[in-house]
Amino acid sequence: MKLTADQLRDKYLSFFASKGHAVISGASLIPENDPTVLFTTAGMHPLVPYLLGERHPSGTRLTDVQKCVRTGDIDAVGDSCHLTFFEMLGNWSLGDYFKKEAITWSFEFLTQHLGFSPDQLSVTVFAGEDGIPRDEESIAIWKSLGIPEARIHALPKEDNWWGPAGATGPCGPDTEMFIDNGQPACGPACRPGCRCGKYIEIWNDVFMQYNKTAEGTYEPLKQHNVDTGMGVERTICMMNGCATVFETELFAPLMAQIKALSTVRPEEESAVRAERIIADHMRTSVFILGDPKGGVKPGNVGANYVLRRLIRRSVRYAKLLGIAPGYTRSLAEIVIDNYKHVYPELEKNRETVIGELTAEEERFEKTLTAGQREFDKVAGALKQHGQTTLSGRTAFKLYDTYGFPLEFTEELAAELGLAVDRAGYEEAFKKHQELSKQGDATFKGGLADNTVATTRLHTATHLLHKALQMVLGPHAQQKGSNITPERLRFDFSHSEKMTPEQLKQVEEIVNDAIRRNLPVTMETMTIEEAKARGATALFAAKYGEQVKVYAAGDFSMEVCGGPHAATTGELGGFKIQKEESSSAGVRRIKAVITAKE
Ligand code: SER
Repeated sequence: MKLTADQLRDKYLSFFASKGHAVISGASLIPENDPTVLFTTAGMHPLVPYLLGERHPSGTRLTDVQKCVRTGDIDAVGDSCHLTFFEMLGNWSLGDYFKKEAITWSFEFLTQHLGFSPDQLSVTVFAGEDGIPRDEESIAIWKSLGIPEARIHALPKEDNWWGPAGATGPCGPDTEMFIDNGQPACGPACRPGCRCGKYIEIWNDVFMQYNKTAEGTYEPLKQHNVDTGMGVERTICMMNGCATVFETELFAPLMAQIKALSTVRPEEESAVRAERIIADHMRTSVFILGDPKGGVKPGNVGANYVLRRLIRRSVRYAKLLGIAPGYTRSLAEIVIDNYKHVYPELEKNRETVIGELTAEEERFEKTLTAGQREFDKVAGALKQHGQTTLSGRTAFKLYDTYGFPLEFTEELAAELGLAVDRAGYEEAFKKHQELSKQGDATFKGGLADNTVATTRLHTATHLLHKALQMVLGPHAQQKGSNITPERLRFDFSHSEKMTPEQLKQVEEIVNDAIRRNLPVTMETMTIEEAKARGATALFAAKYGEQVKVYAAGDFSMEVCGGPHAATTGELGGFKIQKEESSSAGVRRIKAVITAKE
């Protein structure tokens, strides 16, 4: 059966709606208040509080399409199916149905709605490990649906265990579904999960029964959940008989433009790889820059660094194909046009996306040739002397002076058979940081967060947002938020530097709200009702969608996922540490609270 991505999304959501699921909006690509990951990596990610037992406003059966970014596999991009951005279709049971319904519906959707033959289907289940038993129940369900034992493979944790998404959180055994594309097995050991390309993973049903704690132990969850995920790009690729995801309609116009802009054709394999890398990285960058939450710009830390790396890596591969500078604009236009009917935020942020992309391209253009020359000089000398490692100092110089991300230098070096002294690089980096006192760039370890400290800072963020609007005007709207246990960081639209008086006023208003010890309460209502009551709603929600609204007494009201402090008094006191520019028209405040415990 041939199917477009639009048709697939619709089919999936209506199928699960017909099974009693509420269709909810996918979340932002930038996770809120979760320092354990930089981007949303799976549909379950924004649902973690509900998988852990909090009540979801839309009920216990949910379905959606979620934008995801995973950069762990960035080096694999260029083959037929690896991508750094993808869309995930998902359905969830929050303590509602479990294995029987989940597997039966997956089977029904694949065979009756997508037209796959049951004979093409192979599945894997959890074989049991670490005191957790083999998943006999799933095996029995697959058999009852007519899948013969020979096509049910029990595999260890490495293959059939999913999660948590970050360092801690919900996880459990899973059953994965594969479509056999009919090509001959690569050998006697060939089975689903084999990388030869015969078996293509199409869907994953995770049975979330455990919570991984910060100590690394698995504790049973209060409720048994189901979390499933199906990749849009891969599925339409298989359904339309495309050999690679880059041939699907989601990539075809982009690939055509890259080809049209190319003036050099290196050896076939590297040309194809370069085209795919450019297409993938541009699409991901457009989605990150166009996210409704905003706030991620090319930079040197965290998510900003990932974005910078994606753009710069694409520029380098564009050079390889002889693509003239300025190319990012036309590619971004194509991505936006291709997706704007599904993700209107891209159209809304078109100018910002293109502005940031072209500015970063230009910044890198300026130093790329000089940096490449420096690299060639050093690498050439090393080769001549039979050495195999590029020093950390050189790698740092390439980073600091020429804007080469470390991974980028590593890639160039690897092409010449050289390694890079990473530890030496880190050392040089640290030294530089100490010298220039940019202590801000430290990464926090992966502690899961909904700690008391971050929860209170989250409440402080709401108070700050309201106070800024009172002092500066209603245009001062949230553009981004990032919370660590130590501080909050808040980006908002405002084009001038705030005066000391304005800062003082904002601080006083927040501290007054803290002194009044207002109760923080939550109510569930439709998005229309929330807006009618005057709640600030930052993110798109579907018409009629149930949302949570948090109010701090009569002071502020925002549509938000929580969690929050119980009262504003818990915050103790509020202090702004810094006010600075974040990007054009956006200011940034860093602030702390002085809660006693
Ligand atoms: N969370 C699981 C995955 O990412 C299922 O959605 O595969």
